[in-house]
Amino acid sequence: MFENLTYNQSTIHFGILGKSQFEEILTEDFADAKKVIITDENVYHLWIQDLTTNYPELANAEIIQIPAGEEYKSIDVCTQIWSALSEYQIGRNDLIINFGGGVITDIGGFVASCFKRGLKFINIPTTLLSMVDASVGGKTGVDLGPYKNQIGVFSDAEHVFIDDRYLETLPNDELKSGYAEMLKHGLIADKSYWNDLREFDPVNTENYLEFIYRSVLIKKRIVEKDSKESGLRKVLNFGHTIGHGLEGFCLKNDMPVLHGYAVASGMLAEAYISCEKALISKQEYDDIRSTLSQSFSPVHIADNDFKEVIKLMHNDKKNKGGVIQFSLINGIGKCLYDQEANDKLVLNALESII
Ligand code: GLY
Repeated sequence: MFENLTYNQSTIHFGILGKSQFEEILTEDFADAKKVIITDENVYHLWIQDLTTNYPELANAEIIQIPAGEEYKSIDVCTQIWSALSEYQIGRNDLIINFGGGVITDIGGFVASCFKRGLKFINIPTTLLSMVDASVGGKTGVDLGPYKNQIGVFSDAEHVFIDDRYLETLPNDELKSGYAEMLKHGLIADKSYWNDLREFDPVNTENYLEFIYRSVLIKKRIVEKDSKESGLRKVLNFGHTIGHGLEGFCLKNDMPVLHGYAVASGMLAEAYISCEKALISKQEYDDIRSTLSQSFSPVHIADNDFKEVIKLMHNDKKNKGGVIQFSLINGIGKCLYDQEANDKLVLNALESII
């Protein structure tokens, strides 16, 4: 049994949905609310019947299904969802349930937060990545072309229900994508978690919930101190400055990569920068490199495209005065934010990935 975690106004529940407070919350807190489920085509085919038949309160829910993939995390798709909400005459007291991976919880949370100036929403993440990261912490939003998460608001789900049964149908590369974010949690905040994760097999374990819980606990402790990312929360972006540059480049060139794979390459490159700045030892860098290389092939970008990746990074939300800012580790389990690196060092870091 894992205790609920709470931060701000949000409660995170762990374990089988049917044994959780989900039904009670629907019947007591949202008895008179119309319910709208936002999901993607994959989750719809695999799990929507399970959800809507097990909970009578959801039997008449409106279901909005969008295509799967990061390329649909756009303002155009939001407009389509808002039009559907208008058609269903959804009002301020109604409830949105985001049922899917990171794209769904990001876009669904954003749609809910802006519609009629804000509707309550619940997240039911179905991917490892959304369980350990995207569904928790209140970041919602969409991409602007190749620029990741440029449009968005901080807005917390009322409840997040993390049920690892949904991982049964998740492809291995999606499981590994979530594993990258878990490794990040170990690297930035908890050396013993990092050591345990090095032995963890993300595609074949009976023990997901214990590891998911440890990741969410790390994230919650950071987010409750700095929910709007004015300081400490930036450490959660370790690996993401370069990772988002790589992901945005791939998206722009119609060869999308999974977020976790881009973050794994980003962590490798940013660990290189940490080592070059003498924040970590060569031994620590080698350990990180060998662990990441075991699970993740590097994102392939030709040398002559690195400048384009760096250009994308110049639009990162953390930048100050036109200078790219990094979160860099200063030991395994420790992280500094607002660290600068010049373009030459970033170029070397990108070269080091291959
Ligand atoms: N995914 C990073 C954060 O939630 O701050």
